[in-house]
This record gives sequence, structure tokens and C-alpha cells, in this order.
Amino acid sequence: MSQKRILSGMQPTNNLHLGNYLGALKNWVDLQKEGAECLFCVVDLHAITVPQNPDDLRRSTREVAAAYIAAGIDPTRSIIFPQSAVPGHSQLMWLLATMTQMGKLNRMTQFKDKAGKNAEKAGLGLYAYPVLMAADILLYKATHVPVGDDQKQHLELAREIASTFNHRHKSELFIQPEPYIMGEAARVMSLQDGSKKMSKSDPSEKSRISLIDNADTIAKKIRKARTDTEALPDTVEGLESRPEAKNLVSIYAALQGKTSSEVLSDIAGKQFSEFKPMLVDVAVDHLSPITTRMNELLSDTSEIDRILKAGADKANEIATPTINETMEMMGFLGLS
Ligand code: AMP
Ligand code: TRP
Repeated sequence: MSQKRILSGMQPTNNLHLGNYLGALKNWVDLQKEGAECLFCVVDLHAITVPQNPDDLRRSTREVAAAYIAAGIDPTRSIIFPQSAVPGHSQLMWLLATMTQMGKLNRMTQFKDKAGKNAEKAGLGLYAYPVLMAADILLYKATHVPVGDDQKQHLELAREIASTFNHRHKSELFIQPEPYIMGEAARVMSLQDGSKKMSKSDPSEKSRISLIDNADTIAKKIRKARTDTEALPDTVEGLESRPEAKNLVSIYAALQGKTSSEVLSDIAGKQFSEFKPMLVDVAVDHLSPITTRMNELLSDTSEIDRILKAGADKANEIATPTINETMEMMGFLGLS
């Protein structure tokens, strides 16, 4: 297959934030523009690796899909769907689980972080999560997977599982997926602590700009963002030991599709009292059309559901032959 096929996904847990947007979604939109074949999945089956309230899961699944579309993923060009609507993900996961060594899963750092000290009580799903992610990718024979740093280890495992299967069955059924490295703003930090990533799970709402925040809330959060007392420098090096300043400058740059060093030439010498209102303007200008579109989409859930169903149908068409081939190679009768 010479054509690029991109697959990525986000979990429907809490609201998406500026980090998700600048670090992932905005890049997905660029990939779509380049004309690659894209599948963007809302990974609801991954979300249930920790307990979820069913109503919240339903609402978040639609919200994440609405965020994809509002950010510029076009459902007529890319396939948008909930993972659970394509049975192949769970089916392939089981088949691949039988050829994944526990030793490898034991080395996954995300499991260690999420399970914490209580690994004995963590669910099997949380432990097996990377196998489900491998299934997501291999099911569609995706060639490129845009992921953040924290997911590279899972992607490497997907590559290993693909080669184990191919080797065992003397086939070339599965393609080795390549990571897709994201641009400059790949890491947006917390507005309250420049050493921590902006995260959905941070207990402080003030730490993140959520994609459903209105203009007032965005302005308030930026005004309250932690800073230092110095003026802005004229070079990127001048931001090195100033994590909060560096973060705000890099957000300001990324929202305008520029680099930090490009924007520093305009803002060097300014105090935060002057720079923050500029950042508020840029953030509100950029984000409010997205928020408005998201709210429109969410006001009619039947339309979102229709889009997701149409996406799931297309995804199923790609997934079903892979499942059938896999099962046949493994020796199942394939009577279904
Ligand atoms: P998560 O919010 O952890 O489910 O991540 C969904 C996607 O957003 C992944 O591709 C992450 O790499 C990306 N992402 C999450 N938080 C940030 C952040 N603070 N900065 C940049 N990218 C992020
Ligand atoms: N594990 C990813 C995360 O937490 C989400 C994910 C699930 C994913 N399946 C995927 C990302 C397949 C890329 C490809 O961010």
C-alpha cells in the first residue's frame, strides 16, 4: 500500500482542552488537508478501562466527536466514528492478546502510572489497553499514527505485535505503523504550573482552557495564569528558565500558526499586563468559532449520531475483511 492511511483517536473522558487541540487535533486537520486517507476514532472502549458513568460516557463521546468536527475534521473527507461501533476492534484485540507477552505489557509506563501503587486492584482492561490500541491501528492497516510522546511506547508494541503475527503466520497481513511526529506546540503546559502538562485530569479547572469555555472564561483563566515578573525576552533562549512565560508565548505562537521565535520579535520587552490581553484576543478569536460550532452540533444529537453511524459503516467496510483474513489465517472456520 503506497498511500498513507492515518489513524488516531482520543478518549471520551472529560472535556477536550487547548493541549488536545494544539497538540493533536490541529495536526490532524493539517493531515486531512494534505489529502491523506484519515480515520479518527473516539476511543470509548479505552475510556472504560477506568470506571465511567454511562450518561457521562455517552455525552463525552458526542462531545469529542463534535470537537473533531468543529476543529475542522470534515466527515465527508475523513472517517469519524466511535470505536465501539466497529466490533472488529474488540475481536482483533482478543486475537492479538493471545500473542502478546505479559513481560512486554509489564514494561508499559502508562499502566504503571495509571495503576499507581495499587496494581493488584487495577482491572485487566487497563493492563490490556495497549493491545486494544494495537488492534485499533492494525485493523485498518494504518501506515501512520499521530500520537504524543506518551503513546510512543504503545505504538512500538503495536509494531511488535504486527511482526509477531506476520512471522507466525508467514504473512504480510499487518502493516508496521509509523509514529507521526507533531509540530512545535506538541506540549501545552498547565496555566498554573509550567512544569506540568495541561491535562484533563488536573483537579484545577484554572489549569486548562477547555474547548467549551466561553470568551469570558478564557479571558479569566489567562488573566489568572501564573507568570513571573520580568518582561518578555527577544529570543527563545531567554525563555529557557521561565516555564510559565515559555508556555504562554508558545500558545500565542501556535494559535497563529507561527513559531515562538517569530512572535517574540513583536512582543519582546512587553510586561505580562500588556501581553496577556493580546493572548486573550488571539485565543478567543481562534477558539470561539470552534466552541460555537461545537455547541451547534451538540444541540442536535441526532445529527452527530447520524455522522458517527455513517463513519462507523465506512470503518466497518475496511475492518471486516481484515478480521476475516486474520481469522482464516489462524484456523477458524469463519462461518459467521
Ligand atoms: P489525552 O487527553 O491524554 O487523552 O490525549 C489525547 C491527545 O491529545 C493525545 O494525542 C495527546 O498527546 C494530546 N495531548 C494531551 N494533552 C496534551 C498537552 N498538554 N499538550 C499537547 N498535547 C496533548
Ligand atoms: N491511547 C491513546 C491516548 O490515550 C488513544 C488511542 C487509542 C489511540 N487507540 C489509539 C491513539 C490508536 C492513536 C491510535 O491518547
